[in-house]
Amino acid sequence: MATISLPRLSGRIEALARFGALPGGGVTRSAWSPQHEQARAWLLDEMRAAGLAPWVDAAGNVFGGLGMRAFDAARPAVVTGSHIDTVPEGGILDGALGVLAGLEALHVIRETASSHTHPLAVAAWSDEEGRYGSLFGSRAFCGALDVGRLPDMAAADGERLVDAMARAGFDALRAPDAQAPSGAVAAYVELHIEQGPRLEEAGIPIGVVEAIVGVRRTRVIFIGQADHAGTTPMERRRDGFLAAAEFALKARDLVVKRGSGRSVTNVGVVSVHPGVSNIVPARGELVHEMREPDPAVLDRLARECTTLARRVARRRQVQVELRPISATVPAPCAPRVQAVIEAAAGDLGLATQHMYSAAGHDAQNLAAITDAGMIFIPSKGGRSHRVDEMSDWDAIDRGANVLLHTLIALAR
Ligand code: GLV
Ligand code: MN
Ligand code: MN
Repeated sequence: MATISLPRLSGRIEALARFGALPGGGVTRSAWSPQHEQARAWLLDEMRAAGLAPWVDAAGNVFGGLGMRAFDAARPAVVTGSHIDTVPEGGILDGALGVLAGLEALHVIRETASSHTHPLAVAAWSDEEGRYGSLFGSRAFCGALDVGRLPDMAAADGERLVDAMARAGFDALRAPDAQAPSGAVAAYVELHIEQGPRLEEAGIPIGVVEAIVGVRRTRVIFIGQADHAGTTPMERRRDGFLAAAEFALKARDLVVKRGSGRSVTNVGVVSVHPGVSNIVPARGELVHEMREPDPAVLDRLARECTTLARRVARRRQVQVELRPISATVPAPCAPRVQAVIEAAAGDLGLATQHMYSAAGHDAQNLAAITDAGMIFIPSKGGRSHRVDEMSDWDAIDRGANVLLHTLIALAR
């Protein structure tokens, strides 16, 4: 039975981790940054050295083909992959594992001359982490980019997408050209760390993903009145920050009490204007995020949070504006791909658990154009989106072998 080389895979994981490495561990490798572009060049070299045909599309997605040099509906490909960009101060496995295990699997299939009727490709989808929107590259590939927004898209630090992509040698306005011909992907499967504690706590080595949560992000802006922070009587203040703070706490309670039990929420971006200690904040602004696997529950929670924001604003005598940032719909994984993963794990003697993904992934875009699935491995302590994110090397070995045999079966 074909098997992946753990020393080769771990060597590549450690090599990729050097691009954007932080002194205290972990990595910052944002999409289109110089560190990311150096990592892209390294990845293209590794693909070439593994005997794959590498190319980059108009959205910045990197591909390594085995038996293919482009997507072609006449020869539908089995595709695997993930992403090589990271969140700021992120870990070394989120995304990197799926790309490098995919590269390793294709390397082994080529070396062992394993027969396949479908061509295969490994992808590193660009800007998965959402420096601009979210899941940018896979969205472009699946024809789901909001083309009208491209000229104005800007990152949290203000840099425009057109400028960031131009610096990396791309024309953002041409990103829609990355759309794959209809029918060109026979199936998609992505290996990823779970990023949560469920598999580790259950003592199960392999997660078979049934569905990926939908994520809503909304900018909520409370507009009050700037005033002298010493002389204005407390009862006369119209404080934009306090309204934002009250909304954040109450929205958290609302999602916990009225959600499905799987619903989660986060406020990870807050700003106060003018932002000095002797002025009552004229404006308090936050990004409210919610995630939930059931689309009906997600819709209801979004409506209830809008009502809540208006109620808080009225009570505090401030204005409120709600600006949608992004909305992904929950995506089911294909039963056919789940069954193939299950069988591959069974052949390797590995127990599985069916689960939903609480994180967003490129697979959710691919699910709209082909049969898509995901394989999870346990994350140590459930830690992710932090510098000490890790999984055991044995767990990585098991996950990569399940990926290899899933790909062999799908491409047969
Ligand atoms: C992707 O990392 C996400 O935020 O779910
Ligand atoms: Mn991530
Ligand atoms: Mn990821």
